[in-house]
This record gives sequence, structure tokens and C-alpha cells, in this order.
Amino acid sequence: MAKILMIYSTTDGHTREICQRLVQVIEQHDHQVTLIPVEDAANMDLQLFDKIVVGASIRYGKHHQQVYDFIAGNQRILDSKPNAFFSVNVVARKPEKNQPETNPYLKKFLKQIAWQPQELAVFAGKLDYPGYSFRDRQIIRFIMWMTKGPTDPATVIEFTDWQQVENFGRRVSTM
Ligand SMILES: Cc1cc2nc3c(=O)[nH]c(=O)nc-3n(C[C@H](O)[C@H](O)[C@H](O)COP(=O)(O)O)c2cc1C
Repeated sequence: MAKILMIYSTTDGHTREICQRLVQVIEQHDHQVTLIPVEDAANMDLQLFDKIVVGASIRYGKHHQQVYDFIAGNQRILDSKPNAFFSVNVVARKPEKNQPETNPYLKKFLKQIAWQPQELAVFAGKLDYPGYSFRDRQIIRFIMWMTKGPTDPATVIEFTDWQQVENFGRRVSTM
């Protein structure tokens, strides 16, 4: 049994939901998972864990600054254990952009950080127009219009391929 630390960065909760599915899969493999938001990661003793997983969503083209800070501050310890990273964004709803090698945000992110995660994944996120502020809703609808996605302001749609999430959970279990 391995002790796994899973750290997530979310704005609207979807990345946490993905983590919760990963936890289910990993616990079925008899490992123990501690799930925490990146805001709380500074209080954790990372040495207590056998593996570390980081997951973060994209907002206006970027993962949250706290994700960069956590990685920069813990580079050595991340490199010393089996480790993984996944990104959540809606561009990944497109089949030609849903792999670590083809997703523009993940590719750019990996160039910006020194850490090279052992396992990588990218998952399509969720759109929830009614849940967004007026400004965010208008901007995201415009981006969706440009990229041929849904623009109806009543749209709530989860693009996530849960099979892909579960496969990643199995990879994390055995890494
Ligand atoms: C204000 C806002 C900005 C976003 N910007 C992007 C973006 O630039 N590119 C993208 O692919 N997805 C973008 N998304 C989609 C999110 O990545 C997606 O909704 C994801 O599921 C959010 O995960 P979270 O709830 O864990 O934060 C954006 C969503 C919101 C609400």
C-alpha cells in the first residue's frame, strides 16, 4: 500500500470532482490517498508520502499561480518520488487536443516549469454558463463561438471522458 498525496487547484470545483474519481480508482488498488487543495499544500509534510499527484484547471489560458509556486518550491521532493500531473481545460474536448502531447496548455506549461512529471494527463472540463459571472459568461461564450463550441447561455455541459480519468487513476496506482 502506498500513501499518495493528491493536490488540486480548482475555481469551480470540477478538478476536485475529477480528483474524487481518481481517489476512488486508486483506493480500489488498496492505496491510501490524501486529497488537499493547493492552498493547503504549504502545511503538508510531503516527505510523509510515497507518491505525489498534482491536478489543475485552466482559467484564461493559465493554471493558477499557486500551482507554479508549489511546483517551484517543491521541485526536489517532487523529483524524488513517483509523481504525476494533470490539466483540466475545455480545449481538451477536441479529440486532436486531448492528449498531453497535443494539448496546447499542457505543452506550454511543461516548458514553463522545471519539473518534468513522470505521468501526465489532460482532461476536458466542464462549462456552466449559468454559474459564471456575466463577464466570464460573455467571454467564454465568445471563445466558444470562435472555436465552434456551445454558446447557448443556458448550457451546462461536462466534456470530461471519465474512462480517461479512470485509466489515469490506474496508471497512478501502478507508477
Ligand atoms: C473564467 C473562465 C475562464 C476559462 N478559461 C479557459 C481557457 O482559457 N481555456 C480552456 O480550455 N478552458 C478555459 N476554461 C474552462 C475551464 O478550464 C473548465 O471549466 C474547467 O472544468 C474548470 O475547472 P475547475 O472547476 O476545476 O476550475 C475557463 C473557464 C472559466 C469559468
